[in-house]
Amino acid sequence: MCGIVGYIGTHAAAPVILEGLAKLEYRGYDSAGMAVFDGERIQITKSAGRLKVLEELTHDGATMPGVVGIGHTRWATHGAPSNENAHPHYNMNETIAVVHNGIIENYLPLKEKLISRGYQFTSETDTEVLAHLIDYYYKGNPLEAITKVMHRVQGSYALGIIFAEHPDEIFAVRKDSPLIVGQNENGCFIASDVPAILKYTRKVYFIENQEVVRLRADHMHFYTVDEEEITKEPVTIEWDSDAAEKGGYEHFMLKEMYEQPKTVTDTLMPRLKDGDIVIEELGMSDEEIQSIRKIYIVACGSAYHTGVTAKYVIEGIARIPVEVDVASEFRYRDPILEDGTMVIVISQSGETADTLAALRESQKRGHKVLGIVNVVGSSIAREADNVMYTWAGPEIAVATTKAYSAQLIALYLLAMKFAKVRGKLEEEAFQHMLEDLKRLPEQIEMLLSNKKKIQKFANRYVAAKDVFFVGRGIDYAISMEGSLKLKEISYIHSEAYAAGELKHGTISLIEEGTLVAAVATQDKLFQKTLSNMVEVKARGAFVLAVTNEGNTDIEKAADYVIYIPSTNPYFANSLAIIPLQLFGYYVAVGKGCDVDKPRNLAKSVTVE
Ligand code: AGP
Repeated sequence: MCGIVGYIGTHAAAPVILEGLAKLEYRGYDSAGMAVFDGERIQITKSAGRLKVLEELTHDGATMPGVVGIGHTRWATHGAPSNENAHPHYNMNETIAVVHNGIIENYLPLKEKLISRGYQFTSETDTEVLAHLIDYYYKGNPLEAITKVMHRVQGSYALGIIFAEHPDEIFAVRKDSPLIVGQNENGCFIASDVPAILKYTRKVYFIENQEVVRLRADHMHFYTVDEEEITKEPVTIEWDSDAAEKGGYEHFMLKEMYEQPKTVTDTLMPRLKDGDIVIEELGMSDEEIQSIRKIYIVACGSAYHTGVTAKYVIEGIARIPVEVDVASEFRYRDPILEDGTMVIVISQSGETADTLAALRESQKRGHKVLGIVNVVGSSIAREADNVMYTWAGPEIAVATTKAYSAQLIALYLLAMKFAKVRGKLEEEAFQHMLEDLKRLPEQIEMLLSNKKKIQKFANRYVAAKDVFFVGRGIDYAISMEGSLKLKEISYIHSEAYAAGELKHGTISLIEEGTLVAAVATQDKLFQKTLSNMVEVKARGAFVLAVTNEGNTDIEKAADYVIYIPSTNPYFANSLAIIPLQLFGYYVAVGKGCDVDKPRNLAKSVTVE
């Protein structure tokens, strides 16, 4: 996510901002900038690259004198990393400066309206729309202008705003993206997260959705979106700075698991418009979608597992043949790519060498490639013919969770879009599926609340030697990811198996007490998987089952059952994977493993 820091007080603002942004570097970013009121005007310095570039450009802030300022580290979502796209952003006469963390879902229609009213843009960002929109509503009263903007924009935002005509104030605004404010004897502060201001104060105010804060050097006022003044109670932060970077979570992986409801929302909602799916970045006409004869999905690791899921979903609802391959195999198999084959590569980092090579191989053979990527401006994002971003924000833990969940959403949207355009999905079924998609964030939230129960169960398996994950259809794809999550962070051997395949050899490995995790979310395959559970149980296995609420028959064959709420069977992966992520996490924690940085692994495998 982006990082925001602001300061107003008796000291120079720039050094305070730079130091605060440095504390937010863990959030991942690709550019940085500051806006400081120098007594006459708002000065902005910003640049792509690391914070060090900004420090050098401003001589550690010395070239930007002034006691009021806002700063930003940008994690690109709309517009590649560049000086122009870096924040802060000005209005046209440079009397307003804005920094933003979040995604403005309706920025394009707003931008078109502003352009029609003579506004000129210098960047590709959704944030610049905010700067001009505030300008559009500003008639001398900053609070009035800001609240009008809040009524117009849709999406998520944490904002820091300064006005040249009100140099004794900073404004902070929040909707969905986190923002805090704090105060000490030398001034007032805004920040995206606690670490940025922990040095100055442990007493912070967490801004709630649709609240606005007016900060002056020696006091703060809080308002609702209707400009009513409210009072808020501060929270005293007990964390140390290391814990604070993880938002109080013990590991980034746990923090990112808990961000999944938001990353699912952020990837889903901007692409739902008036009851339809709109994927502007797909770059394909309806005719081109209708002419697809086959889809080839290529990726590595967890991204490959989302591709396996997508095969079942796309073939199931759009009836387009799908082949899925690991990139390291695809690139050397001299793949047969017939005319009409669409290639999709999936990558969180956008830098995985094998996946990038697969993209280039496909293009060399004359096939367009769609990239589903999380890191804006990454190699795969730049080289793909079209890019559909997963807006999961930076993922720090090596074991992917929130990016994986966002990739699933992107693939469901593609499958449903293709199915509808090709006349394979009736409007009523389509709308029901949209409703099921919109329910996923709250259902994920509910499953995450079971963490204590999962932790208790996981503690029984810290000494396990072999764990098997089995399932049929989409449940097999879920099993693949559940198995990888466990083994890559706990170092316990684990395998995922198509449940029907067990009897062809692997079942000989089942011994007394062997843990078998059976995933049974696909009702039409439930009885078959139930039989497989009975088979392994008869040979001594301890069976953990993950199934849909109401499938209580499973308790006849399972020793421990985790129920997931009802959703469309094609979306079951998004829910069933949550307890399996938590299981792998807590087994690894129980073993004392380095959960965020497992041995031998890198977050992005940029070599073959
Ligand atoms: C998953 O937890 C692993 N970190 C790994 O399998 C990862 O999914 C794989 O290396 C692909 O990375 P990418 O999505 O960045 O291309």
